[in-house]
Amino acid sequence: MTEFPRFPAAFEWGCATAAFQIEGGATEGGKLPSIWDHFCAQPGRIKDGSDGLVACDHFHRFREDVALMADLGFRHYRFSIAWTRVIREDGSANPEGLDFYRRLLDALAHRGITPNATLFHWDLPAHLQRAHRGWLGRETAQRFADYAALVARELGDRLPRVATLNEPWCSAFLGHDIGVFAPGVQDRPSSLLAAHHLMLAHGLGLQAWRAERSGTQLGIVLNPELCAPASDAPADVAAAHMAELERNDVFLNPLFGREWPAEMLAQIGPLGEQRRPEDLTAIAQPLDFIGLNYYTRSIAQSPVTPDEQRRGYRFVPPDPAKTRLTDIGWEIYPEGLDRVTRKLLAQWPLPPIWITENGAADNTPVVAGACDDRLRLGYLQSHLAQLSQMVASGLDIRGYYVWSLLDNFEWAQGYSQRFGVVHVDYATQQRTPKASARWFQQLMTSPQA
Ligand code: FCB
Repeated sequence: MTEFPRFPAAFEWGCATAAFQIEGGATEGGKLPSIWDHFCAQPGRIKDGSDGLVACDHFHRFREDVALMADLGFRHYRFSIAWTRVIREDGSANPEGLDFYRRLLDALAHRGITPNATLFHWDLPAHLQRAHRGWLGRETAQRFADYAALVARELGDRLPRVATLNEPWCSAFLGHDIGVFAPGVQDRPSSLLAAHHLMLAHGLGLQAWRAERSGTQLGIVLNPELCAPASDAPADVAAAHMAELERNDVFLNPLFGREWPAEMLAQIGPLGEQRRPEDLTAIAQPLDFIGLNYYTRSIAQSPVTPDEQRRGYRFVPPDPAKTRLTDIGWEIYPEGLDRVTRKLLAQWPLPPIWITENGAADNTPVVAGACDDRLRLGYLQSHLAQLSQMVASGLDIRGYYVWSLLDNFEWAQGYSQRFGVVHVDYATQQRTPKASARWFQQLMTSPQA
């Protein structure tokens, strides 16, 4: 009999998705375009030239997808609400869009699956980008709070657990410094201003939700990372430190009422004047939970180009001769899950933790009706063995969501990278559970410790 890692009986098992990556139905039910719709329309932005117009067609197939989740044994589902679906440009509610999520919540309730909603998984309404420069404008944070209040009013009675933002590091730095994510800006100080406004949105959003409704568990989902120096050279060690300040401290410090490190204040320069002293109090709202997304670690070296010098580091890709990589090229480093969590706990007073994403790109095709995704299976097994030890050692980690239920639109990689435990044939929309899904099914139904 297979040995499964052991977890407490109350440990929560779920799968995760995000609206833009699976829903499609991009122009239906009064849905407005997001910055990702616009980004996809620009030539050269997405590796395979694709977009999210149809994606996994979950907008039409959500019942089938919920049934599949239930059959596989998932009891928790983390998904995101599309801001562009539920609220009109004038700020009024869009009943048709809200109805979609009501029907989704009905289907989940019917199958005994607990929802965990994220309000912002990167799909900012395009009109806010146009009118307020998106996250470079303070107004966007206020609009996010209005959106949070609307969801609290309209859907909040059905949502026990809600996160404000998913991985604001990606929106801020991939979107405004590296420029590989929407909206594709490339300016270091701007990326730090975006990070600040995202965190302000989080704080104002939590306050707005709590003013409408009590009893919801509220938090945020971050993707902290360990950045290892490429060598022992002091310049590389300093570079790795800078990368970690950007990745972790820029988001965690304000959550706990602490100012940014001096290095980050220096990097934002005069744009930092748009940060107001009272913002820190607004951001540091009590958290009921924190979601951690974990995939890999990064390796940093001292900067070379002017852009890298502005950041204070450069990333070097892992060496495939020395490390095992997933199909997207990310190092498989299960120990990192333990190391990064403990590092965070040593530095900040974290609330209870859920691992809200973890998974691997494994592009194994379906052959004769089956998908033998061994790389993903090995990845998940090694990370869950690690997690099992972490929980046994007393860390307050209450659940795990695999990324992702379905293969889906992987942002700048388009459909070229598959993260699902269920394969999607995009031509026919056929879903085929992979070997990893079957393993999960056994794990989730095995007698627990
Ligand atoms: C995370 C994102 C998620 C998905 C995975 C692979 O950074 O939150 O949407 O793209 O990476």
